[in-house]
Amino acid sequence: MTAIAGYVAPEAKSGDLGVHSLDQFVLAVPDANVAEDFYTNFGLNMERNGNTLAIKTFGHEHRWGSVVEGKTKALHHLSFGCYAEDIARLKARIEGAGVKLIDPPPGFESNGFWFRNHEGVLMEIKVAPKVSPDHKSDSIWSPVGPGAAGATTREKSPKVRPRRLSHVLIFTADVLASIQFFERTLGLRLSDKASDLVAFMHGIHGSDHHLLALVKSSAPGFHHCSWDVSSVNDIGLGAMRMADKGWTKGWGLGRHVLGSNYLHYVRDPWGSFSEYSCDIDYIPKEDRWPAADHKPEDSFYLWGPEVPREFTLNCEAGES
Ligand SMILES: [Fe+2]
Repeated sequence: MTAIAGYVAPEAKSGDLGVHSLDQFVLAVPDANVAEDFYTNFGLNMERNGNTLAIKTFGHEHRWGSVVEGKTKALHHLSFGCYAEDIARLKARIEGAGVKLIDPPPGFESNGFWFRNHEGVLMEIKVAPKVSPDHKSDSIWSPVGPGAAGATTREKSPKVRPRRLSHVLIFTADVLASIQFFERTLGLRLSDKASDLVAFMHGIHGSDHHLLALVKSSAPGFHHCSWDVSSVNDIGLGAMRMADKGWTKGWGLGRHVLGSNYLHYVRDPWGSFSEYSCDIDYIPKEDRWPAADHKPEDSFYLWGPEVPREFTLNCEAGES
């Protein structure tokens, strides 16, 4: 682990300017019915309005994601939430950086403003409730003591229901340029990176180790959405349920190095992934995370099965 040459972390103090949450991700897919089936089986609470789907978690009102219909699967846009008192300064900073503001896409009008990043990816910043966590999420490790059975029968095993969205990982043709863009515009901070291959960014108002991650590819695209569950057991139960429903492809069980979360990824109908995640590192507000540059071969995962070839494919860039 080495310090990043030339990288000066912003001072962590109140008054710094940045978004507080990834408010929602929006995917375009060819068939909303397929998406509804996949995410419902994954354990999410899908609400349909015509051809648009809202992706929610049970017991939480927030809309973590949306699915709209499109010719091919594509990342439609990312929406970030900020505090009301920050939106004017964020807008001024982004315009001051030479980024042109644009009209919202039909159906997504909001109190916020819209722009494209340096690679053309559509983004929104709007005033919204903070949905990134204010503390590290609880994890359940040992629900019973001596003299009692910890496991249920398979028949009685509960349906896994993720608690919240943790992060998304997107492809980019230039990880280092993307870090700079998201620092200068959204006010995200670098948590960790591995060379110019992958980077993880967090929010300054308290968030998981990453609410947005970046991985190198030939073009932009959506790699995965990650959903927080309460235990490693839930990761296994979720993966098993998906396999029972025919969604057998993916990668896991394992544990990441950067972010530390336990993981299982399920390949979705369009070649990207949904991740069950547990016990991801948390970066409190005003904490200074020691952003570091890691050896790629030493920092992807701590343990787990061999990574399947399709895990790295950017289907939006035509890779197969
Ligand atoms: Fe992830």
